Amino acid sequence: MDIEGKIAIVTGAARGIGRATAVALAEEGARAVVLADVRDTLSQETADLVRAAGAEALVLETDVSDIDALRHLFFETEKRFGGLHILHNNAGIGEGATDWPTVPTERAAAIVDVNLRGVIIGTQLALEPMRRSGGGAIVNTSSGGAFMPLPPQAVYVATKAGVVHFTRSCTPLLDSHGVRVSCVCPGVVETDMVRETGIDGQPAEWLQPFIASVEVLRPEDIAAKVIELVRDPNSAGEVVSVANTPKAAGG
Ligand SMILES: NC(=O)c1ccc[n+]([C@@H]2O[C@H](COP(=O)([O-])OP(=O)(O)OC[C@H]3O[C@@H](n4cnc5c(N)ncnc54)[C@H](O)[C@@H]3O)[C@@H](O)[C@H]2O)c1
Repeated sequence: MDIEGKIAIVTGAARGIGRATAVALAEEGARAVVLADVRDTLSQETADLVRAAGAEALVLETDVSDIDALRHLFFETEKRFGGLHILHNNAGIGEGATDWPTVPTERAAAIVDVNLRGVIIGTQLALEPMRRSGGGAIVNTSSGGAFMPLPPQAVYVATKAGVVHFTRSCTPLLDSHGVRVSCVCPGVVETDMVRETGIDGQPAEWLQPFIASVEVLRPEDIAAKVIELVRDPNSAGEVVSVANTPKAAGG
């Protein structure tokens, strides 16, 4: 899909990977990028960056675990811009600094609701607006953690494995709705989510040896892959990893 002139929604766009994707979509010529997040002030900062990159920006405060809020997001986007072509289902949370199984039960439930239910319902609600717009591309953010056991973040990786399987099972939506659903599985990316696994802004102790041994990715590295998947006409059902590479010797 040519991104020029298209309408996009990015969830979790206030910071990190979502912010980088929102800006990248604007740089690629999107007409408008709708920023859906629970953090309003940071979303406004993303909006400024999107406008500076040449696109219209609209902040719609949205909790992706709230079905009515998601309905409002899609309704307002179509009403305001007359269509929808691109969705990056990116909002996500993890156990934070309290590992499984001591993570509070409400937090464990919220991880499922944001990371998995938010992606599933977001995809479902995007289908009709995208069909009316002549088709679209949805890119979900999973994680490299989807493919390996990670005991301190057991809930998080379970939801990310679910996103992978959901994405693959959405392959036929290309034929039925003209919508390509794919997902990106990042390794460790330098964002607040990683810092919030520990205390005092430092990644959790269990994560530090891995971080020390690899090149940590930048949010822009993931945004570039999202752009590729949006463009690629063969991306339906694709699950693409952006892995960390080992640190160069002496680095
Ligand atoms: N950082 C990494 O190493 C890494 C690796 C693999 C996958 N991911 C995934 O990438 C995505 C983005 O993470 P990030 O690293 O940029 O983290 P981040 O914490 O910087 O950004 C996540 C964004 O999601 C928003 N958000 C949280 N709950 C929400 C909700 N209920 N509704 C709407 N927005 C909500 C936050 O406010 C935040 O702006 C997540 O799905 C995450 O699981 C991150």
